[in-house]
Amino acid sequence: MTNIADKIIVALDVATKRQALSLVEQLRDQVSFFKVGLQLYTAEGPEIVRAVLSTSAKVWLDLKLYDIPNTVARAVESASNLGVQMLTIHLSGGSEMIRAATAARPNKMLLLGVTVLTSATEQTLREIGIADKVDDQVVRLAKLGVEADIDGIVASAHEIKMLRTEFGDKIKIAVQGIRPTWADPGDQKRFMAPRQAVEAGADYIGIGRPITAHRNPREAVAKVLDELHT
Ligand code: C5P
Repeated sequence: MTNIADKIIVALDVATKRQALSLVEQLRDQVSFFKVGLQLYTAEGPEIVRAVLSTSAKVWLDLKLYDIPNTVARAVESASNLGVQMLTIHLSGGSEMIRAATAARPNKMLLLGVTVLTSATEQTLREIGIADKVDDQVVRLAKLGVEADIDGIVASAHEIKMLRTEFGDKIKIAVQGIRPTWADPGDQKRFMAPRQAVEAGADYIGIGRPITAHRNPREAVAKVLDELHT
């Protein structure tokens, strides 16, 4: 990847197609990758994905699929027919589900696996019967994904080093929970600045509210790019 701006993915975490396309229109000459997640997709469906793709931007469809292997495989096919560049599944669905997904994925689409949600704590793992530490569960699920041919992992920025040590450059790493040095952390507790995340080895950094809730989203992106370049 030559251009550092290509690492930035703006999360379109808004309620309507109108708001999403307004952001895309404002930012399209600064960034080329946008994330459509559950909120927007549930409200606007595949139409919003087609609309963002029609600007020649790339789309990360963050649906975090988790279902029986056949259903996940068919949903992967549907996403690839839409033409998205990146899609997420939950690795806790197990190796059979992951293999069904990777087998259904065309070469040009990156399939990323979610290990443990960054909102989860050890207490959350206990509730669902997992006695391990969060980091151990992250590595266990990432291994399951890599063995089943996943292209990359969605991780907290604090997990990058651990994942690079374990898997080297075999996988792409996309991180979220990113807060530029000037931004309000909001509800984020374990955040990291964009530059630190890139230096730690992130391939993609997903940023939402620091850009989308900024009074001037273009200025916010410009400041993030400045931070990355200095
Ligand atoms: O917090 P922010 O608005 O930057 O979040 C952008 C995206 O990253 C959201 O879509 C959210 O689901 C995801 N996220 C995450 N883990 C975090 C924080 C945010 O996956 N710790």
